[in-house]
Amino acid sequence: MTTKFLGATLALLAVFPAFAADVQGDPLAPTSRWSAYSSGRAQTSPMGWSSWNAFATDIDEDKILGSAQALVDSGLARKGYRYVNIDDGWWLQRRASDGELVIRAERFPSTVRTGGLPSFRPFTDRLHAMGLKAGIYSDLGRNTCSQAYSPDDSDLPKGSVEEREVGLYGHIDRDISLFFSAWGFDFIKIDGCGLRAYAAGSEKVMSGAYRELKPLLDMDSVARSDIAGVQSLFRQIDAALIRNNPDGDFVLSLCIWGAGNVRAWGKDFGNISRTSDDINPTWGRLLTNFDSAAKRALYAHPGSWNDPDMLFIGKGDFDADHLTEARSHLSMWAMINAPLMIGMDLRNATPALLEVFGNEEVIALNQDPAGHQAVVAFDSGEVQIFVKTLSTGEKAVALFNRSAAPMAVDLTAAHLKFRDDLDVGLVDVWNGRKQSFRKQVRLHLEAHQTLVFKARGARVLAEGLYLSEQPGNVNPAVDGVRWPAPDPTIHRSAFGWQGTRGSGERPIYAGWGGAQPDSAPFGEALRISGKKFETGIGVLANSRLEVRNQGYRQFTAIVGVNDSARDERHAVTFTVYGDGKVLATSRALKWGEEGQRISVDVSGVKIVELVARAPIDDPASLPVTWAEAALLSGSAPAQVSQH
Ligand code: GLA
Repeated sequence: MTTKFLGATLALLAVFPAFAADVQGDPLAPTSRWSAYSSGRAQTSPMGWSSWNAFATDIDEDKILGSAQALVDSGLARKGYRYVNIDDGWWLQRRASDGELVIRAERFPSTVRTGGLPSFRPFTDRLHAMGLKAGIYSDLGRNTCSQAYSPDDSDLPKGSVEEREVGLYGHIDRDISLFFSAWGFDFIKIDGCGLRAYAAGSEKVMSGAYRELKPLLDMDSVARSDIAGVQSLFRQIDAALIRNNPDGDFVLSLCIWGAGNVRAWGKDFGNISRTSDDINPTWGRLLTNFDSAAKRALYAHPGSWNDPDMLFIGKGDFDADHLTEARSHLSMWAMINAPLMIGMDLRNATPALLEVFGNEEVIALNQDPAGHQAVVAFDSGEVQIFVKTLSTGEKAVALFNRSAAPMAVDLTAAHLKFRDDLDVGLVDVWNGRKQSFRKQVRLHLEAHQTLVFKARGARVLAEGLYLSEQPGNVNPAVDGVRWPAPDPTIHRSAFGWQGTRGSGERPIYAGWGGAQPDSAPFGEALRISGKKFETGIGVLANSRLEVRNQGYRQFTAIVGVNDSARDERHAVTFTVYGDGKVLATSRALKWGEEGQRISVDVSGVKIVELVARAPIDDPASLPVTWAEAALLSGSAPAQVSQH
């Protein structure tokens, strides 16, 4: 759905609200299906190793296979690190006669074949024989990121302008078939520099070295990005992947760095999707990359994960002399279900670093089959508390000291949604130490330290799960964001691509105002008519949430306009659908009116849809609240009553 189209539909709704559900193409009409990406194999977030952070384009077979061997020898492969991914730098050229891609065979001797072009098949065979999976890299455009940004051209494709066009643009079917059917890869990362860096006026194009490709992506402006154009390329790639992988065993990794509002729609187009520009081995940059994904819990699910970029453990602020920071890096990536892609030359990893990567308790949090990204329970610039619901019914909690000073942090039973009149048991996943508390406990964090516990307690909601405890089952299919605006809460580090040249990184990652667990869309508290709610889903009006119901029998919520709304004039109607059928509709509720309780039987329903509808064009001024929204195991008579 393009924003233009959505706008037209909503304008129509404003005129004919009564016929809304019948309007063809109405984005708020129930679909009774789960629309987030479900092709490929990423039921849990992929884990492995990638060449980029360690070697940039200076790659060769020994380096890559050396790290692959280290994955096996160290036991990390057995613990889940299975993908070995070649990043940028593997191409020699695209052959002029027939458009076939040519590998830099002098760097990858096993690819040499007599009487044919080099092939990666022996290389992927080798990785597969080691019990590993193989990943390859390409670009949406004609040219690549290294061609746009490398300081010199020694590792770049060679030949004429056309021969150096090694990206997918115009070659999707041919290249995907080569990578997957002929060469046997299992994973592809698709970068977007070819759609960003080759404008007519760019230096590279002006010099005659590269052909112009009118940019479809603009890092600094969603309005200047052609979102539909980019999505259409990803759709073609997806179709080619499905054709060339009859067993469905592939991973599609989108890498457009949070541009073009992809933080809102990446979940519908690929298995993992980059939420920010590149990480580097500094603490400040880690904060930026982490923040770009950390408050997008509802936009990540089994099969479609947020990707704040690869791990930089082993280098700079996360090297063997900074194990506190290295552990924090792994801990927080694990908590938010980020892909765990090691980015260091594992041939040189110290035992202490291998131990960090290999912490099975931390890996298990990341790979928990329920697939719920951690949700913010306490937020500040210095310290955050994140809580993740596990498939066992336990919780994981991380206390993250972002600051360079020691901190005392109070963890409460309420943060965990556990009862505070009974004991809560904690096991530290880094050292196995146990403790318990009632109501609250004071914990001490070193600078940059993260404490991670598995927590066991009596749940406040004994007979079910709040929706905010199961973000992996909630998909904001339409989140009401009409004019994607940059998220101002993402840390702006001094050490992005530009360093301190220029004026610094401006807020560029759209997604501000998206659906949130336990918070209103712009970060305010969940409040209806002066009454505060500790839990619920905050979202803008004119939104549709898809909820996977895993066997629960009842859905309940208290619905209303959030107190943070600026629109006091328009009323919102809340409708709950079960597999496409209306189960309940609220009264039309305006700002200041008390919340209305909805409670419906959802026995046997697979997809519950929560629609909040208002006759307005731009819902940014009308945040609504599904307070205490929960799925419960007991059944209850259907009722819609005043709360
Ligand atoms: C982009 C990506 C990086 C890496 C480089 C390769 O910057 O974001 O992860 O793949 O390209 O050139």
